[in-house]
Amino acid sequence: MQLGMIGLGRMGAGMTQRLLQGGHQVVVYDRSGDAIEGVAQQGALASHSLEDMGRQLKPPRLFWLMIPAGAPVDDTIQRLQASLSPGDVIVDGGNSNYKDSVRRAEDLRSKQVEFLDVGVSGGVWGLTVGFCLMAGGSEATFTFAEPIFKTLAPEDGYAYVGPSGAGHYAKMVHNAMEYGIMQAYAEGFEILKASPYPFAMPQLAKLWNHGSVIRSWLLELTQAAFERDPELRGIKGWVEDSGEGRWTLQEAIDHAVPAPSIASSLFVRFRSRQEDTFTAKVLAALRNEFGGHPIKPE
Ligand SMILES: NC(=O)c1ccc[n+]([C@@H]2O[C@H](COP(=O)([O-])OP(=O)(O)OC[C@H]3O[C@@H](n4cnc5c(N)ncnc54)[C@H](OP(=O)(O)O)[C@@H]3O)[C@@H](O)[C@H]2O)c1
Repeated sequence: MQLGMIGLGRMGAGMTQRLLQGGHQVVVYDRSGDAIEGVAQQGALASHSLEDMGRQLKPPRLFWLMIPAGAPVDDTIQRLQASLSPGDVIVDGGNSNYKDSVRRAEDLRSKQVEFLDVGVSGGVWGLTVGFCLMAGGSEATFTFAEPIFKTLAPEDGYAYVGPSGAGHYAKMVHNAMEYGIMQAYAEGFEILKASPYPFAMPQLAKLWNHGSVIRSWLLELTQAAFERDPELRGIKGWVEDSGEGRWTLQEAIDHAVPAPSIASSLFVRFRSRQEDTFTAKVLAALRNEFGGHPIKPE
């Protein structure tokens, strides 16, 4: 099958490579000429603008966006307008907010262009082990794009999950679950580190990956990180979040679903980015006010 891949970062480049290995024809575009050159050397067809990509693809065209969520997706869809004809398909494989995906699908449908929101999981390892894909949109469009999904995913690793927005909704919750699972591992290892026993982190992580109830791919990645640097000395404890945890909690609130693990794991990420907190200053001030408890000056 033929498709256009827009965005050749960590994900887009690996997905392009896997599609080329699977025998698909991939026309590629990125803002960076070096990124285009990198995948062109592996057999992708370079395009030098979105219009150029549109000309190289045969209708009905399939454009796959693998770029940051938010304005970049709206801008790129806007810039694609001149190249679109009825029957073309745009797939957003990034971590977009599902509400944006519902809006984009409706806008494009009025132009007879189909839109699929496809949550992609697997990170940079997807190139070798396959990407897990959860697709939302029309079922007929999913079937049209299925040869692409089949190549990108491992066996049983892709599915149609519902109408527009469902793919990105599923991916949003998937990522929020990931926050909570990672948080539990992280807290456990900090308690082990503080314990009176001389636990070796790489040893325990490896041990638990052999038959224990908490074995997992994330624990294998923990093991790999500890084997490189048991004390993680080269890493600052500063953790970014890219939206899915926040959006999931907003959904949990809207539907009155208690989600304490996901909530606390998101708040730990916020805390990781603060040097000091006003919360703690207020607590220290209050203890000093009511009980004369000592305060530490800045
Ligand atoms: N990394 C993961 O594990 C992972 C997993 C699943 C889904 N995702 C999602 O997949 C998408 C891509 O992630 P990534 O990890 O591949 O990111 P990345 O390595 O930072 O690559 C981002 C790509 O988007 C392009 N881009 C950035 N801003 C743009 C804009 N305003 N307009 C057009 N293109 C723009 C970049 O082009 P330049 O080269 O010009 O900067 C680059 O090709 C994101 O939505 C991300 O949330 C990531």
